Amino acid sequence: MMKRTVLAAAAAAMLAALPAKAADYKVGILLPFSGVYAGLGAHIENGFMLGLKDFGGELGNNTVSVVRDDTEADPGASLAKAKKMVLSDKVDVLTGIVSSAVLGALRDFVHGSKTPLVVSNAGNDDATGERCSPYITRVSFSNSSITRVMGPWMAKQGIKTAYLMAPDYAAGRQMMDAFRATFEAAGGKIVGEAYPPLQGTKDYGPYISQAKASGAQALMTFFAGGAAISFVKQYKEFGAAKDLPLYGAGFLTSAAYVHVQGEAADGIIASLHYVPTIDTPENKRFQDGYKAAYEGKLGSEFAVAGYDAAHLIVKAIAAAGGDKAKFKGELAKVSFNGPRGPLRIDPATHNVIQNMYIFRNEFADGKVTQKVLATIEGVQDPVNGCKI
Ligand code: BEZ
Repeated sequence: MMKRTVLAAAAAAMLAALPAKAADYKVGILLPFSGVYAGLGAHIENGFMLGLKDFGGELGNNTVSVVRDDTEADPGASLAKAKKMVLSDKVDVLTGIVSSAVLGALRDFVHGSKTPLVVSNAGNDDATGERCSPYITRVSFSNSSITRVMGPWMAKQGIKTAYLMAPDYAAGRQMMDAFRATFEAAGGKIVGEAYPPLQGTKDYGPYISQAKASGAQALMTFFAGGAAISFVKQYKEFGAAKDLPLYGAGFLTSAAYVHVQGEAADGIIASLHYVPTIDTPENKRFQDGYKAAYEGKLGSEFAVAGYDAAHLIVKAIAAAGGDKAKFKGELAKVSFNGPRGPLRIDPATHNVIQNMYIFRNEFADGKVTQKVLATIEGVQDPVNGCKI
C-alpha cells in the first residue's frame, strides 16, 4: 500500500514537472475591408494584433495563429465565409463582425456549430437578447446601450423635441428605438424620423432639410464609417447646426475619422463606450502602443474593441491551457480594466458591462478633441429574453 502511494506521488511530481498541455488556437477574423465600413475593419484588426502583442505573454506554451476574410457589410457573403473558416480552415474561435445585419445572419450557424464568436463591434441587440447563444460573447456594446443613456441626459438639458435619423437596418433602428424609449419616458417627444439606405446614400441634403422643417430642437442620429463622414460634412454645408443641434451615437465622430470631419464636428454631442481622452494607465498604454505601431494614428473605439477582443481571447486561453473544450466556457468569465475602463461579461446575456461616456467634440487649433460631460458607470442591458 505504502509502495503504491509513493509511486503515485512520484508520478504526480513527474506530471507537474512536464510543461502544461499546450495547443495552437486558430482565430478567424471576419471584418469589412471594403465597402461603407472598410475603415472600421482596419481599426479593429490593428487593435486585435496590438492586443495579441501586448497580452501574448499570458499565453504560456499555447500559440495563436490568425486567418482573415472580408465581410464587406454583406450578410450572405459573410455567412459563406464564416462557414469556410469553421469547416475548412478549422478555426477554434471567430472574431470581428462590424454590421448588425451580418451578426444576425451568422447567429444560427455559430450557435448550431458551437463555434465561439467574440464580437468586436456589431451591436445587434438580439444577439445578446432573444437570439443569444452560449457561444456568442460580445466585447464591444449593444446598440441600445449606446443611445438609451442619451434620452434622460438630453431631456435634462431642456430638450423637449427630437428628430431621429439613422441608416435603414438593424443597428439604425435599434439605436433610435432605444433613444426614443428613454427620451419619451423622460417627457420628450419625437416629432419625425428618417432612415436612409445604408449602402449608396450619397446625398443627405433632402433628409437634413426634412429634419430642419420638423421644427425639432435636436437631431439624434446614428451613422458610422464613410456614411458618418459624409453626413457630418453635409450637415455643416447646410448650416443646419444653428437651428437643429446635432447629437448621436458616438460613432458619428469616431476618433477613426473625426480628423477628416474637422471643424464640421465642432459642438456635436454624443455617447459612446470609449473616448481617446480617458486618463488611465491602461488607455495610455493602448494609445502609446497604437501610435507607435500605426504611423502616429489615434486609436478609436473600433481599435479598442479589437484590442480587448484579443485580451479576452488570450485570458480565456490562459485559463483553459491546451483544453479547447474548456476554452469555450472561459470566454464569458473574463474581466479586466482596459483602455475604456472596467469591463466584464454579463453571465446572463454574454454582453459586455461597461461605462458610457457622453462627450462634446471641440474644434481648436485645427484639431478635434472630446470633452467628457458625463460618465454613466457599469451600463448593463436587461436580459431581453436571453436564456443561456
Ligand atoms: C452595427 O451595425 O452594429 C454597427 C456598425 C457600425 C458602428 C456601430 C454599430
